[in-house]
Amino acid sequence: MTAPRPEVDISRVMAELDALAKRSDAPSPAVTRVLYTDTDLAGRALIKELCADAGLSVREDPIGNTFARWDGLEPDLPPVGTGSHIDAIPHSGRYDGTVGVLGALEAIRALKRAGFRPSRPIELVMFTSEEPTRFGIGCLGSRALAGAITASYLASLRDRDGRDFDEIRRAAGFQGELSDVRLPEGAYTAFVELHIEQGPHLERDGIPIGIVTAIAAPAALRVTLTGEGGHAGAVLMRGRKDALCAAAEAVLLVETIASNSGSPDTVGTTGVCRVHPGAINSIPERVTLEIDIRDIDLVRRNCTLDTIRGAIEAMAQRRQIAAHVECLNSDPPASTSVIVVEAIRAACGELGLRSLPMISRAYHDSLFMSRVAPTGMIFIPCKEGISHRPEEYSEPEAIARGIEVLAMTVARLSGTEDHAQGAGDGTR
Ligand code: GLV
Ligand code: MN
Ligand code: MN
Repeated sequence: MTAPRPEVDISRVMAELDALAKRSDAPSPAVTRVLYTDTDLAGRALIKELCADAGLSVREDPIGNTFARWDGLEPDLPPVGTGSHIDAIPHSGRYDGTVGVLGALEAIRALKRAGFRPSRPIELVMFTSEEPTRFGIGCLGSRALAGAITASYLASLRDRDGRDFDEIRRAAGFQGELSDVRLPEGAYTAFVELHIEQGPHLERDGIPIGIVTAIAAPAALRVTLTGEGGHAGAVLMRGRKDALCAAAEAVLLVETIASNSGSPDTVGTTGVCRVHPGAINSIPERVTLEIDIRDIDLVRRNCTLDTIRGAIEAMAQRRQIAAHVECLNSDPPASTSVIVVEAIRAACGELGLRSLPMISRAYHDSLFMSRVAPTGMIFIPCKEGISHRPEEYSEPEAIARGIEVLAMTVARLSGTEDHAQGAGDGTR
C-alpha cells in the first residue's frame, strides 16, 4: 500500500508565510529576524502555536532548537526529522528557511488529513540561528545538536555588543544546561530539509525539484585591524595609520584572491565592516571585517583561506597596522545520504515530478545534521535565483510541489507503508 497522495493546502501555507514575514524588524517586503530578539521570539511563538494546533507535541532545548513531534505507531523508534530555520539576516526575504519549517508543518498536516499513520514518529525541527548575524557563526543550533561545537564554546560566544550568549539566551527564556543540547547517538532515523534553491538552475531549466547531493564547504574569518585614530583635520596625511584604508585593501584582497583561485566555484565576500569610532571627522582607529569564503572543493577552499589570511597580514605589516585574524569556522563539505536521496527521487516518481541532482552552494542546517543522521535536501525554484534580498520569491505552486515531495519522502522514511509501487509514469 502506498501513502495516500497528500493534498497540500497552499493558501494556508502562503498565509502563514505572510504572517511570519510580518514578524520582522525591517519594513516589508524586507525581513530581519535576528536570534533572540523580540521579533525572533514572536516568530517562534507563531510556529509553536501552529504546531500545537496541528496536534504536535512541542518542546525546546536550552538554546531554543524547537521540536514538534507527531508520534508514530511505534513512538519509541527514532523519528524522521524535517525542518529548517526562521531567523533571517538583515534586509533579507521571506522564504529562506521558513519554507522548510512551515512546509514541514504542512507536510505533516497533509499526511494526517490523508489518513496516513507513520510507524516512526515524524518530528519537525526549527533550528536556532542558522544565520550568523548575531554571533558570527552560522548553523549554531544544528552545530550544537551534532556536537560540532561544545557547551564551553557556546558559553564563550559574545555578540557585537559584547553580551554573552548565556546571558542573552536566558533572557530570551531558554534555560537549562548547554551541555544538554547535543543529540544522543541515533536520535534520528533520517533528516530531510526543504529549502528554496537560492540559485537560478531549477527556474532556468523548468525543473520543479532539486535533490541535493552535496553541500559546499563554508568558512569565515573575523579580521580586526587596529591603527591610530586622531583628528581628521589636524593629523596630516603622511604617517597616518588609518585602519579603514587597510580594511579597504583587505576587502580587495579577498575579491582578487577568490577570483583567481582557478575555479569559479571559489567565492569570497566581506559582508561586515564595523568602523570605530565611526565619525566623519575622526581617523578610523579600528575596523572589524567579517569575511565569508566557500568552495565545493575543501583543499582549494583551505588554500584560499590561508592565502587571504597571509595577504591581509602582509598588507597590515606594510601599513604598520595591527591585524588580528580569527577563524570563526572552517567546515568541510557534506554529502547527502543515498537512502534519503533515493526516497526523494522515489517521491518525485510517485508524484510524476522531474528532478535534478544538484550541489548546494549555500550552507544549511543539513550540513551538520548529516553528521548525525542520514540526511537529504529538497530544493524548489526561486525567482531568478535571488536570495538574501527582499526580492526573494518562490511561487505558491513551486512551494506546494516541494511540500508534496517532502510529505511523500518523510512518509516513505517513516516506514509504515510499502511505497515501492505506485510510482507515476508521466512527469510534470
Ligand atoms: C545561509 O544562509 C548561507 O549563508 O549559506
Ligand atoms: Mn540564509
Ligand atoms: Mn536558509
